[in-house]
Amino acid sequence: MDIKLTDSVTWVGKKDWELRYFHGMEYSTHRGSSYNSYLVRDEKTALIDTVWEPFAREFVTNLKKEIDLSEIDYIIANHGEIDHSGALPELMKEIPDTPIYCTKNGIRSIKGHYHQDWNFVEVKTGDRLNLGSKELIFIEARMLHWPDSMFCYLTGENILFSNDAFGQHYASEFMYNDEVDQAELYQEALKYYANILTPFSPFVVKKIEEFVGFNLPLSMIFTSHGILWRDNPLQIVEKYMEWAKDYQENQITLIYDTMWNGTRRMAEAIAKGIKEARPEIRVKLLNAGKTDKNDVISEVFKSKAILVGSTTINKGILTSIAGIMEEIRGLGFKNKKGAAFGSYGWSGESVKIIAELIEKSGFELVNDGIRVLWNPDEDSVAKCIEYGKNFAAAVD
Ligand code: FEO
Repeated sequence: MDIKLTDSVTWVGKKDWELRYFHGMEYSTHRGSSYNSYLVRDEKTALIDTVWEPFAREFVTNLKKEIDLSEIDYIIANHGEIDHSGALPELMKEIPDTPIYCTKNGIRSIKGHYHQDWNFVEVKTGDRLNLGSKELIFIEARMLHWPDSMFCYLTGENILFSNDAFGQHYASEFMYNDEVDQAELYQEALKYYANILTPFSPFVVKKIEEFVGFNLPLSMIFTSHGILWRDNPLQIVEKYMEWAKDYQENQITLIYDTMWNGTRRMAEAIAKGIKEARPEIRVKLLNAGKTDKNDVISEVFKSKAILVGSTTINKGILTSIAGIMEEIRGLGFKNKKGAAFGSYGWSGESVKIIAELIEKSGFELVNDGIRVLWNPDEDSVAKCIEYGKNFAAAVD
């Protein structure tokens, strides 16, 4: 299904309604995704990106219905990751000499994936490719989110092809941001930023400032996943600037797992204390053993502080908490506070272990945390409520 988007641009990608996990099992895609590929026709014709490998044959078959493949003059590979380059092997069987424009790191990653010596043309920021009446201008986008990532900009129609940046894993029958449910779109865009781009926030700010410095008019942003931004495309650029600057909302999130509900009761009592002391703060409780980890990360992203709790087991912590703490560590959140809690029956190491993990993850540790022996009794519940009040007071 090809869709003509503008006078010169036709969408030739794939909507993947069934996708539920991406990057192996690392990223949940509750609403599917899409792999957006674009054919740009002028006097010359360029294909921007392809689709994920399982759809390679379908992609090439459909593309042949849209254009005689020999009429494609240039292939632009904005990013070597397989969800965008995956149909290259199938496509290059048909047009093996067509030049592939990408960054130096793009050549490395595409060669690394496919071990083919195709006709690569290395491009740098500011390089231009003349299509006839219009040009493509290349803009390296290192670390957004891979070292090989690149944007390209179509003059005349003023479209930024941003690849992963500004995208969302969101399959829709619609193409544009003004056509879809705004809450769903915002949720998916934020989830994408929180789970993928958080570690690269300094690069996001720098790249946006660099692009603004080019003074190129911007009519639309065509991403490589999800919907495209045509209605006020700057809204997502402004959001990225906000998200990239140590983002937080007025929220505290309690993340816990529990064996016999002792730690859960602690979480509820601490949350009660926070709410009593600071009713204006949004408080969320998430059982890490029962909650999608990417959704947990989205809530951490929005939080000014987190409380992480686990029962002690085998002198350690529950694996769901170990897993989410590893995810949190890797994303390198800034400007957030945290503390630990947990119940125990015998040795009781969990709170100390979690506190160390919180600190190593770059959070400011508010205090040594709170632990409760066995199932919390009335006295322990009262202590947890008090702890929650003090924690709330310590959070700006
Ligand atoms: Fe959508 Fe980095 O691949």
